[in-house]
Amino acid sequence: MSRMFKKRHLLLVILFVLASLLSLKWTQMTEQPVIAQLGPPITAAGDEPIEPIPLHVSLNMEKVILGKQLFHDPKLSKNNTISCASCHDLTMGGIDRRAHSLGINGQIGAINAPTVLNNSFHFKQFWDGRASSLEEQVDGPIHAANEMGSSWPEIIEKLKQSPEYVNAFDKLYEKDISADHIKDAIATFERSLYTPNSRFDQFLRGNANALSDPEKEGYRRFKGYGCVACHQGVLLGGNMYQKFGVFGDYIKERGNETKADLGRYNVTGKAEDRYMFKVPSLRNISLTAPYFHDGSVKTLDEAVKVMVKYQLGREPNQKDVDLIIQFLKTLNGEIKEVA
Ligand code: HEC
Ligand code: HEC
Repeated sequence: MSRMFKKRHLLLVILFVLASLLSLKWTQMTEQPVIAQLGPPITAAGDEPIEPIPLHVSLNMEKVILGKQLFHDPKLSKNNTISCASCHDLTMGGIDRRAHSLGINGQIGAINAPTVLNNSFHFKQFWDGRASSLEEQVDGPIHAANEMGSSWPEIIEKLKQSPEYVNAFDKLYEKDISADHIKDAIATFERSLYTPNSRFDQFLRGNANALSDPEKEGYRRFKGYGCVACHQGVLLGGNMYQKFGVFGDYIKERGNETKADLGRYNVTGKAEDRYMFKVPSLRNISLTAPYFHDGSVKTLDEAVKVMVKYQLGREPNQKDVDLIIQFLKTLNGEIKEVA
């Protein structure tokens, strides 16, 4: 009788040990942090390093409408063939889906065209931050020989031929079609191109169910890996400069280094600014391939792997990369259709 009991007891102990081992293996597969800094699972938004895009921005709607017209008008280019929208197509996330843009006379640009969505929240404009405001930015493409190749006197002369423009400027800018007023209208239109209410923003505003469990796991990894050290604030980017290639030399490995690869160095001439770029926004990022200032990467999968390797010095792990991408896809907001 007592031997029988012992046998049964032993069986129970063995079963218990087996069960514990199995459950440990299970935890390793699901819960075990893949990297040391991975915090506890995320259930709801707490004190986060990312802020939602404002739900409303108040703007002079008549300026927005005039700016929209100017943004889409090829008369702003030397030979009336290229508008701002040629390279920043608002039906495709504000980009041209090319590694390098096409300017007048089929000229190929030196760098990838970023989106114009949410640009009013960037601390500076351009990859190297050489313009401090949206207004100042407009001077760039207007004059660049390989983009629009024009000048303000030429543009103003053309706009004055249009009674519609003359009326609009009369009303909004006291009869004055000037470079400053054109820039003001375009910049006002650009301020209307914000994309609020993404699922991630709904989560930040307190709706814990706005994200699925895998998306929350992706956000947990985005923070845990340290992406958030550079991609943070309202845009998950756009508020600092960082070197591209903190661990390893991406540009050297890619080959054919160009002047554009020098980044912020082209603005300051300081050695420490070589390969420094404005950290790009990750808002609507799944819509804006190809990626990086050189347009060298076609998929988000590859872009995240480059980041893990060259910005964080880690070996990319496919499962974590997939989760991070699921999180990144929750950053697509509502693209406001302006009147
Ligand atoms: C020929 C293509 C082309 C045209 C036309 C063009 N852009 Fe761009 N745009 C680019 C490229 C390429 C960049 C990145 C340049 C850089 O950073 O050095 C850029 C950058 C920008 C940026 C800064 C984005 C950021 O995240 O820093 C804004 C804003 C912008 N353009 C608005 C405009 C406006 C407004 C017009 C029309 C007046 C215009 N663009 C015309 C290609 C173009
Ligand atoms: C040390 C700062 C830093 C860290 C950490 C970092 N990034 Fe970046 N990220 C950058 C910079 C700088 C660029 C622009 C590189 C370039 O194009 O020259 C960039 C570009 C990107 C792009 C391409 C954006 C575009 O519009 O082309 C994606 C996507 C991205 N990062 C995601 C991530 C993810 C996900 C992580 C974490 C795994 C991460 N980054 C970690 C600084 C950083």
